[in-house]
Amino acid sequence: RNVSLIGAPTDIGAGARGASMGPEAMRVAGLAEALRARGVDVVDRGNLTGPSNPWQPPVAGYRHLDEVVAWNTAVHDAVYSELKTGRMPILLGGDHCLGLGSIAAVAHHCRDVGKKLRVLWLDAHADFNTSALTPSGNIHGMPVACLCGFGPQQLIEIGGHVPAISPKWVRQIGIRSVDEGERRFVHEQDLEVFDMRFIDEMGMRHTMELALATLDDNTHLHVSFDVDFLDPVMAPGVGTTVGGGPTYREAHLCMEMIHDTGRLASLDLMELNPALDVRNQTAEVALDLIESLFGKSTLMRK
Ligand code: ARG
Ligand code: MN
Ligand code: MN
Ligand code: MN
Repeated sequence: RNVSLIGAPTDIGAGARGASMGPEAMRVAGLAEALRARGVDVVDRGNLTGPSNPWQPPVAGYRHLDEVVAWNTAVHDAVYSELKTGRMPILLGGDHCLGLGSIAAVAHHCRDVGKKLRVLWLDAHADFNTSALTPSGNIHGMPVACLCGFGPQQLIEIGGHVPAISPKWVRQIGIRSVDEGERRFVHEQDLEVFDMRFIDEMGMRHTMELALATLDDNTHLHVSFDVDFLDPVMAPGVGTTVGGGPTYREAHLCMEMIHDTGRLASLDLMELNPALDVRNQTAEVALDLIESLFGKSTLMRK
């Protein structure tokens, strides 16, 4: 399989500075080398460029909207062009507002080639806020809503089709922090959420069986991995930590079961914040998990 690494060094949608250093931290941890060791053909496209972070308060419910549009447009174009040439894009964030541009590109590509799309959103947060619902104005809390057509016109139209996706195509896993208004909207739009209560009761195995059910040969599987999905005990290097996340073991099983489908076709690795990390530990844990996602296992399995 052919992979292209795309760095998006910005924290334009976040509530803490530092996710802009995420791409380099993954390179330092040895992402390209680890994938090559798994037999993957890896090309590092380097970093996208965009506006710097002006660190302003929200305007009409959004922080840095123009800059967020610029970064997401760059991400859309880069991800879309990799897919067009038959390569698997791995977007190295950057904060999770960029999941919008990435998934808008994936949906755009799926429309072009007539594929179905399934999005796995691994996160502590639903990222389903709107300007009316957000407590912060930080657009990294809004990408899923924007993808579903709820957001400012300049953002929701980036992939050329509004809405870019249907909530029916999304499965959210690991959720444990949802804002008050956001919670109502999640239910109203019938978003399929496997929250921590569900994982506690049913286990990661059954959760993933459900989240991965009804994939077929014509399905493009996209994984949007917000590193704050992980329990902060092992992954402190994120801006919005929420305790009580999946353990190292649960997270590995999650990745292994995604690999086993053979359908993974694009990936976002988001919200890694080296400014808050401890000796690049969170980048190294993320790398371990990506190795599992690409098929690393102790024994040969059929
Ligand atoms: N729900 C909060 C907000 O909207 C936090 C969002 C965190 N999102 C993230 N991608 N880390 O401000
Ligand atoms: Mn997120
Ligand atoms: Mn097109
Ligand atoms: Mn999150």
